[in-house]
Order: sequence, then structure tokens, then C-alpha cells
Amino acid sequence: MNRESPLIEKIQELKRARNAIILSHNYQLGEIQDIADFVGDSLELSQSAARTHADVIVFCGVHFMAETASILCPDKTVLLPDIHAGCPMADMVTAEALRRRKQELPGATVVTYINSSAEVKAESDYCCTSANAVKVIQSLDSTEQILFVPDQYLGAYIESRTGRKMVLWPGYCPTHLRILPQHIERLRQEYPQARVMVHPECRPEVAALADVVLSTGGMCRYARESEAQEIIVGTEMGLIHRLRKENPGKRFIPVSEQAICPRMKLITLEKVLWSLEEMSPLVKVPEETRLKAKRAVDRMLAIGR
Ligand code: 13P
Ligand code: SF4
Repeated sequence: MNRESPLIEKIQELKRARNAIILSHNYQLGEIQDIADFVGDSLELSQSAARTHADVIVFCGVHFMAETASILCPDKTVLLPDIHAGCPMADMVTAEALRRRKQELPGATVVTYINSSAEVKAESDYCCTSANAVKVIQSLDSTEQILFVPDQYLGAYIESRTGRKMVLWPGYCPTHLRILPQHIERLRQEYPQARVMVHPECRPEVAALADVVLSTGGMCRYARESEAQEIIVGTEMGLIHRLRKENPGKRFIPVSEQAICPRMKLITLEKVLWSLEEMSPLVKVPEETRLKAKRAVDRMLAIGR
């Protein structure tokens, strides 16, 4: 869709009238990324929400990301253009189930991936994203027992990088699970000069075949800075749009065109416009939960990338 389309003009007009900012995750549809004020990974988006002077944040991503913006900016209006855009991995742990597990592991430090509900974050000691998970774990005392929630594959990757054994919650990302070792092996044969980058939500057998394992923001930086002219990309397809736009001279080969997150794709330009018109659907974390969840998120932000 070109920038002059009436739909986009209306969005821009309303955005100005409402003093709104549009944040987009790297997995959003290309046309959403193209109208956003900021496109990034989970960590960059939460940092960007924490910094903004806008009154309204239109969050083009999934529910936990909008909740994180609400946790950090309680005075702002946070809109999620489709309230059904949830993350299936985040739904693999509830606060109730986490409380039960904590009783079985008294004294354990709970480190929770940002892909989780605000209630689950409220039960956690630290939050992390794929960009800073290794750093968060390295910041903890080596004698502490760690319960890592909910992504078992990100957890396994951290274990391999830090040498620390953790208790892993058995969650996973159904989209990244579609990426298989044979996909990478086949593409390596086809593109022998290419570098391979994958997301830490991939299976360990996939991560073991990659040259680098990075968050989506880390992949954007790697693509810019690396000498490689061909890069095989093991993550959700939406990132390919940004990689090609920012690096027109380089070739990006998706590991699997089936790696599509259906919930991310629920956000469309029409829904962005409607959400600004109607100022809904709203995402607002109740104050008691927000204050507890904020402790874990603030500890993460203090550690940084
Ligand atoms: P990033 O923080 O690396 O963008 O990942 C978020 C996500 O949901 C990956 O599936
Ligand atoms: Fe959740 Fe996976 Fe979609 Fe990321 S790609 S939002 S982890 S389902």
C-alpha cells in the first residue's frame, strides 16, 4: 500500500489529533511496519514505550507487549488494534500454575520471559527478553536455583551459553517449532556462502546449526554490520520485510515460509484506524498486578541489552 493511500492518510491524521504513537513489532505485516513510528524487538519496544511523550500508544504486536506498555506507562492509553492478538506461548503458563510450581521449589528465583501475562510477571522476580536473557541470568548469584518461565527452548539456549542449569517450564513457540534442522541443512547446501541466524525460541537442534542466535533486533543489527551478502533467517517471516528494506543490496533467505505467527498477523491497517477512531480495544493492567509486575520489568530494564 503506498504512503498516500486514503486509509494511511486517515491514520496519520487521527494519530496527530490524538497525540498517538504507533509501535510495531518486527513480525508485523510490512504495511504496518511502514506506518509505525518505531519498529523493534520486545526489549526495544518496551524501552520505547517507557520513553514516549505521546498520550496514546497504538501497540501493533501481541497482547503481552501491550500489557508491558501499560505496566510501564499507567497514565497512557494503550490500544491493541485486535484484542485477540495473543501469544500462544504466553498462554502456556498461568499465575495459578506458577504459584503452585513455586511452592514445589521454595526459595527459587523466578525469571520470566517477557512473553507472559502481567499476572505471571507479577509472580516473578525478574523479567527478560531474548535480547538480554543471558545477561539477566549471568547477573544472578551462582548458588541461586532458577525457575525459567515459560520458554523451554530459550531456557535451553541460556543454559548452553552460561553453563547454568535451570528448572525449565515446558512452554514453547508453535511458530518457531516449525523450523527444523533439515531446513537449515538444505539451505546451507544451496547457499554455501550464506551465514545463518536464528531466534533462541527455535529448537536446540536448530540453534546448534546456526552461526548466530539472536533476538529479532539483534538480527537487524547483525544484517547491517555483517560482511555477509547472503543470510539465512530462522525466525518469523515478518522480519524479512524489515531486513530487505534496510539492506537492499543483500539477500535474505527465510528458513521456512511456514514460520508465520497467525496472531501477529491479526493486526491490519483497517484495525489500526478503527482503534484510533474508537479508542479501543484498551489494554490496562489493574494497579495491584501492575505494581508487582513492574518490579520484574524494572529489574530487567536496569540490566539493559
Ligand atoms: P523478540 O523480542 O526477539 O523480537 O521476540 C519476540 C517474539 O515473540 C519472538 O517470537
Ligand atoms: Fe508468541 Fe511465537 Fe508469535 Fe512470538 S512468534 S508472539 S512467541 S507465538
